[in-house]
Amino acid sequence: MADGSTDFAFTSAVETATAAVWNKVRSRITPLEWRLQAPLIAEINRLKAEKNAVILAHNYMTPEIFHGVGDFVGDSLGLAREAARCEAKIIVQAGVHFMAETSKVLCPDKRVLIPDLLAGCSLAASITAEDVRLIKQRYPGLPVVTYVNTTAAVKAETDVCCTSANAVQVVEEVARQFGVDRVILLPDEFLARNVARQTEIGIIAWQGRCEVHERFTAADIAELREAWPGAEILAHPECPTEVLEAADFAGSTAAMNDYVIQRKPRQVVLITECSMADNVACDAPDTEFVRPCNLCPHMKRISLENIYEALLHDRYEVTIDPAIAVRARAAVQRMIDLPPPASPARYDLVKARHHVDVELI
Ligand code: 13P
Ligand code: SF4
Repeated sequence: MADGSTDFAFTSAVETATAAVWNKVRSRITPLEWRLQAPLIAEINRLKAEKNAVILAHNYMTPEIFHGVGDFVGDSLGLAREAARCEAKIIVQAGVHFMAETSKVLCPDKRVLIPDLLAGCSLAASITAEDVRLIKQRYPGLPVVTYVNTTAAVKAETDVCCTSANAVQVVEEVARQFGVDRVILLPDEFLARNVARQTEIGIIAWQGRCEVHERFTAADIAELREAWPGAEILAHPECPTEVLEAADFAGSTAAMNDYVIQRKPRQVVLITECSMADNVACDAPDTEFVRPCNLCPHMKRISLENIYEALLHDRYEVTIDPAIAVRARAAVQRMIDLPPPASPARYDLVKARHHVDVELI
């Protein structure tokens, strides 16, 4: 509304405009919730058209955001690619701050908004640009690959970025280009350990952790197997290696989504953030989802209300020092320019082959 309040009515026009979304999300949202959410969804979609804005929504957004207002949805790699090629004037990042920075790095001329500036990430907070400079001094000549879950200042110190969907490919390509057999992969220790099992390249790792995925254990998986013997268990590569070893499949959020949509398991468990299963479930009505998930408190800061406020007031704008942005862009662009993997990385393919250790900094 013009006064900034979000008190919209559930009119028949709103009901018609949002009918397709309701059909998709009705298994995950109650009719009472929908009467509050649908008017906001309609208003956000109207404002987007008026302001030439798009919303990039990560797989961990709640279903009313993901299915209701997201123009481009997906994993970190997919959203970065969309940011690079989208033509809108404004990008609203329905995700966390490092994702908004990545969009700004790739689109310096666009206005990039994040609905809540406090939407951070434990991995991005685990390492600074100064840490990376010191690491480079300690390992001269070795390439630095950083996970996109880092600040722009950290990316600026980096040779190339990666996401969980392409980390193995990036590590192998950068080792080939540098003519080395070891690569520094920052900052997620578990992702680094899981990549190390998929490649002959030696991995030097940092001790960053995702506060959502580090909490899953092999004992959790054993309990799930006992309680749901028919369920297929899919885990994200930010989980500890023991979890991936016990799972049936491991891959990025996009790879987990594709697994369910293509293979249509009767029962499935997604070992990751809670909203992921809700979003996939809307597109997979024949699969039963068992839900032992963990919430990401940073992702959950984003709501329909603050997305609406962001669009209405053009806030909160993400800015990056141009000298840092230009160096960070080179690292992200090198990743984007790699030929897309035929399919997103699977971390379970050779899990028994490599029992290698990583060198921890
Ligand atoms: P992906 O969507 O790239 O798999 O990453 C998950 C994540 O934790 C993003 O914050
Ligand atoms: Fe960061 Fe983990 Fe949350 Fe992703 S799920 S934003 S990696 S804390």
